[in-house]
Amino acid sequence: MKTIIIDGRAIANEIREELSHTTSDLIAKNIIPRMAVLHIGEDPSSLSYTKSIKKISSKLNIEVDIYTIEENTNDVHVIKEIKRLNDDKKIHGILIQEPIPSSFNREDILLSISPFKDIDCMNPINLGRVMRGEFPFAPSTPLGVLKVLEQENIDVEEKHVVIVGRSTIVGKPLANLLLIKGKGGNATVTVCHSKTRNLPFFTKMADVVVVAVGRPKLIKGDMLQHGAVVIDVGINDVIDKDGKHRLVGDVDFDSVIGIASYVTPVPGGVGPVTTLMLLSNLITAATRKV
Ligand SMILES: NC(=O)c1ccc[n+]([C@@H]2O[C@H](COP(=O)([O-])OP(=O)(O)OC[C@H]3O[C@@H](n4cnc5c(N)ncnc54)[C@H](OP(=O)(O)O)[C@@H]3O)[C@@H](O)[C@H]2O)c1
Repeated sequence: MKTIIIDGRAIANEIREELSHTTSDLIAKNIIPRMAVLHIGEDPSSLSYTKSIKKISSKLNIEVDIYTIEENTNDVHVIKEIKRLNDDKKIHGILIQEPIPSSFNREDILLSISPFKDIDCMNPINLGRVMRGEFPFAPSTPLGVLKVLEQENIDVEEKHVVIVGRSTIVGKPLANLLLIKGKGGNATVTVCHSKTRNLPFFTKMADVVVVAVGRPKLIKGDMLQHGAVVIDVGINDVIDKDGKHRLVGDVDFDSVIGIASYVTPVPGGVGPVTTLMLLSNLITAATRKV
């Protein structure tokens, strides 16, 4: 079987092109889409994600304001800062970068983000709305997965989608989005996790496997049925034989070639699309103000 390697960067470019029309319309109305990214502490990988958000945003004339709050402060200070951003009419979206250090009350912090500015669906109120199928914003990574499927004309209706990973930011919201009664949904969904007994039993039944675990090479070709679509959300920094750092997914890429009908590579698969979905949510938020 020929395996199509999905080009996430090309999909991201197409989305960027579409979004550029909306941003131009907004700018013509004197609305500059603007987001605030808040870091609590200085986690290197989230700082580098913010850097890439800023780079892509600049191509769309989106403004990104970065705030770094020192780790030795408290919840009251962080929530006060978020409330200030909630009230700032020039700011359309707020992103709190993870990880939020464990000394902070994560729940209180996320609940303080205005649901109308919560562009990565971190506020539990918005997450609950995703479960109901009614939401202003869904989290960007599950949206990225759905966008990849849509762009490749892979319809999940009547299909069995097996999601490996049940995190609150990827697996669970994705399951709810795939269950929506309507376009892009109507799938039959199984969610697996670390306590799933006999993972291959489930993955072998899947028409579509989405993996969001954070374990390099967890999913191998012999765990799939022929023709399965494989979407790899995982991003793992591994050190290869030459001592060099390399990003790999959760799928043993070489072993699924010839078995899967489609596969997303890492890097260059879901990741670039995810960032554009975040910006798409921001533009939705900015459009709301028109
Ligand atoms: N491409 C993107 O834009 C993007 C965005 C976000 C995250 N990611 C990547 O996606 C991966 C997952 O992120 P996350 O935040 O969802 O991770 P997470 O919160 O750590 O959740 C991982 C999930 O995988 C499950 N799991 C762990 N080991 C397993 C195993 N051996 N078999 C089956 N399930 C297993 C865990 O099960 P339990 O619940 O039982 O512990 C958990 O549900 C990471 O590599 C992350 O870097 C990528």
